[in-house]
Amino acid sequence: MIKTRFTELFGVKHPIMLAGMNWITTPELVAAVCNAGGLGIFATARCTPEETRKMIQEIRKLTDRPFGINQLLILGQVARDTIQVAVEEKVPVINYTLGKPWFIDQVHSYGGKVIGTTAFVKHAIKAAELGCDAIVVTGTEAAAHGEEASTLVMLPIVAGKVKIPIISAGGYGDGKGLAAALALGASAISMGTRFAMTKESLVHDNFKQLCLKASENDTIVSTKFDGLRGRALKTPVTERIARGGFPLVDAFRGAYETKQLLNLSWPQFIGMSFTMMGADSDHPFWVQARQAAGYRRHTQALYQGDMKEGIFFAGQILGACNDLPTVPELIDRIMAEAEATIKSTSAMLA
Ligand SMILES: Cc1cc2nc3c(=O)[nH]c(=O)nc-3n(C[C@H](O)[C@H](O)[C@H](O)COP(=O)(O)O)c2cc1C
Repeated sequence: MIKTRFTELFGVKHPIMLAGMNWITTPELVAAVCNAGGLGIFATARCTPEETRKMIQEIRKLTDRPFGINQLLILGQVARDTIQVAVEEKVPVINYTLGKPWFIDQVHSYGGKVIGTTAFVKHAIKAAELGCDAIVVTGTEAAAHGEEASTLVMLPIVAGKVKIPIISAGGYGDGKGLAAALALGASAISMGTRFAMTKESLVHDNFKQLCLKASENDTIVSTKFDGLRGRALKTPVTERIARGGFPLVDAFRGAYETKQLLNLSWPQFIGMSFTMMGADSDHPFWVQARQAAGYRRHTQALYQGDMKEGIFFAGQILGACNDLPTVPELIDRIMAEAEATIKSTSAMLA
């Protein structure tokens, strides 16, 4: 058993978090991770506030363990309303990214915890100053949305600068990785791609099978998939999009579908886009349109298994995903390997 500041703070058995992944983190996947001793996070970006409430209640039916929700603050009013629902429901963990949290005191008032997510050292320092309880630091290996620096470089730098527990994300899938993260200053790891490659994940089998054959070099990074720097499985369509110009038709179709999905009027949708522009100067207005285009192709991959038009966001750790275990099998395996690795490396001490 491995005890860290993360397991203590969040009241979970293992230092493993399910990364919030829009569309992929269903209540079933979240609960499977929680029931196996990890911290499951449900990504709410695709949900209206009402759907978010339903999903939270669904998760509570499936597990009595701590869990969290993840929201992209660049979604403006939708993000505000979603976080409000989560606060009303007293969700134990609120994980945010791409913006400045206004809700930390509210969450603390009912005993909840706030986790920021970033790919920048300066944002990690800011999150700690603002009062976050922990911070996810994402390296370039990640599916989405790392920056240039690798986990190996980012993690020790952030660990030297912040005192709150660090959850390291980007490139994790086994126990050696967990042991390395703990050695580099993390209190836990957050995994996206590896949990997407489990039996409980809803990812279409066409993509699961393609991913099983992929190597660590079979991903491609571009800002053209959804407007942010993201990594996807290398396929003819992702290579074409990465080489091409701005996907105008896709962006319009995707914008329309996103507006419908979130039940927004056009003024609300445009307002949301402007909020996004104001929220973070790193992510201007046109990111919104690309996000919409990305969402569309993403669901085509996940739900329909459309290998011609779909985009599957995936990290470099695909190269080590050689099977489709159940969530408890995966977590048990990672924990056993991490413990063995820590023991064997400690034995090197003369
Ligand atoms: C399909 C997909 C959707 C994602 N959606 C979100 C999201 O809604 N919010 C977020 O903060 N991160 C999102 N991410 C990023 C993950 O939370 C996580 O940081 C990343 O997957 C970690 O790297 P790994 O894939 O190497 O484990 C997404 C990742 C994937 C693969």
